[in-house]
Amino acid sequence: MAKVKSYFFCGECGYQSSTWLGKCPECGKWNTFTEEVVRAESGKRKAESGNGRGERGSAPKLISEVVASETQRIPTGCGEFDRVLGGGIVPGSLLLLGGEPGIGKSTLLLQTALAIPGKRILYVSGEESEQQIKMRADRLTESGERGTENGERRTENGELYVVSETVTQRIMEHIDAVKPDILVVDSIQTICTETIDSSAGSISQIRECTAEFQRYAKENNVPVLLVGHITKDGTLAGPKVMEHIVDCVLQFEGDRNYGYRLLRSLKNRFGSTAEIGIFEMQGDGLREVENPSEFLLSQRDETLSGCAVAATLEGVRPMFIEVQSLVSSAVYGTPQRNANGFDFRRLSMLLAVLEKRCGFKLGAKDVFLNIAGGIRVSDPAIDLAVACSVLSSNVDIPISPRYCFAAEMGLSGEVRSVSRVEHRIAEADRLGFEKIFVSKYNARSLNKKRFGIEIVEVSVIEDAFRALFA
Ligand code: TYD
Ligand code: MG
Repeated sequence: MAKVKSYFFCGECGYQSSTWLGKCPECGKWNTFTEEVVRAESGKRKAESGNGRGERGSAPKLISEVVASETQRIPTGCGEFDRVLGGGIVPGSLLLLGGEPGIGKSTLLLQTALAIPGKRILYVSGEESEQQIKMRADRLTESGERGTENGERRTENGELYVVSETVTQRIMEHIDAVKPDILVVDSIQTICTETIDSSAGSISQIRECTAEFQRYAKENNVPVLLVGHITKDGTLAGPKVMEHIVDCVLQFEGDRNYGYRLLRSLKNRFGSTAEIGIFEMQGDGLREVENPSEFLLSQRDETLSGCAVAATLEGVRPMFIEVQSLVSSAVYGTPQRNANGFDFRRLSMLLAVLEKRCGFKLGAKDVFLNIAGGIRVSDPAIDLAVACSVLSSNVDIPISPRYCFAAEMGLSGEVRSVSRVEHRIAEADRLGFEKIFVSKYNARSLNKKRFGIEIVEVSVIEDAFRALFA
């Protein structure tokens, strides 16, 4: 009979202690300890975990003798997903996909599982029944005819098996029966292991289950894709150690009221974290968006003031985004400010700079700012577009939709240089813009003859103001 013990775990970093502690000695956070009952493992488990599956028992090898598996990546058949992964799924890797509820994590993985050609995939769901998965799969592939009974489904030439299961030991049995090339586990928070007594979703369960899947992945060279929930403040639920264990942490995000979804890589042992994937959620699943700029700019009306186009980069991908603002006299004593998709404090800062440098009494006006498409932009190169759109709305003179902006702004109104400016200019050129406004410091090192587009250099915000509205 296994011994039952309880431990206290830090909710922040997963530190384990036999007594309650006010402050975590590991991460220094206060009041994070919760008690969890853990059934002490009998020595048997260690033997069991290998389960005879680890035939490839590891022994040290000379690095020159290790065969690089770069060429063996499994392409997912979805260009955007592959791009974020760095060219496909690496065999034996453990991948964690996080995101808010309802953002489309299950949809993305099921759709990917249906599209991977020539592979045997096991999709384990702790959240949905086989019937529910089947219904979703039928929506994802326009016609459900190709499906067969018993939850088994054939894709082009691969096979997708689905099972609803929450205990890792049972899952391992299913794995033994199916022998999948890829394993998908929908939500690590719903999975539990019998070796521990605490409830699914608790820190010790998440930690242990993740470790079990990692062991399985490494020993059998099978990639495991885990879905993870996120907490209210947007970080992955569960101990930080989980993020250390996995090879790849992807985050799926977007505004639920809009169709766009961004897939970001927060950590990737086998590729760059600069890449992002862009999708659009539609009635029949996620569609890849290859040209976000053309997409985001399509609904433009030439005659409106308050619009400016920013040439931003998400990772290494140029994304042209429309910034809209509305400046109007404040009706109430306290002027309102609202920013959608842009940092509120940064907007306040830009308004203060404009007030000081351009002499507008923005402090007495309501300012509303909106980034088209519900996309959150963190690239500072959007600053100049934000400033110009506010100015345009304030003086009520439209900016030509053929102009775009790429520069950061400083506190004293100086227009600063941004990274990879050639990249942005080349994309603006390709999209048919007439002028791009960049910082003087950026333009210095440019070979302007290379581009057909006119490059307007500005060094302070007043220059931009004069060029646009004088
Ligand atoms: P889901 O993948 O279940 O989210 P998660 O697993 O991240 O919680 O996605 C659910 C949302 O996606 C749901 O609100 C409906 C929407 N959706 C579509 O718009 N089209 C579709 O084809 C599918 C399958 C879902
Ligand atoms: Mg789900």
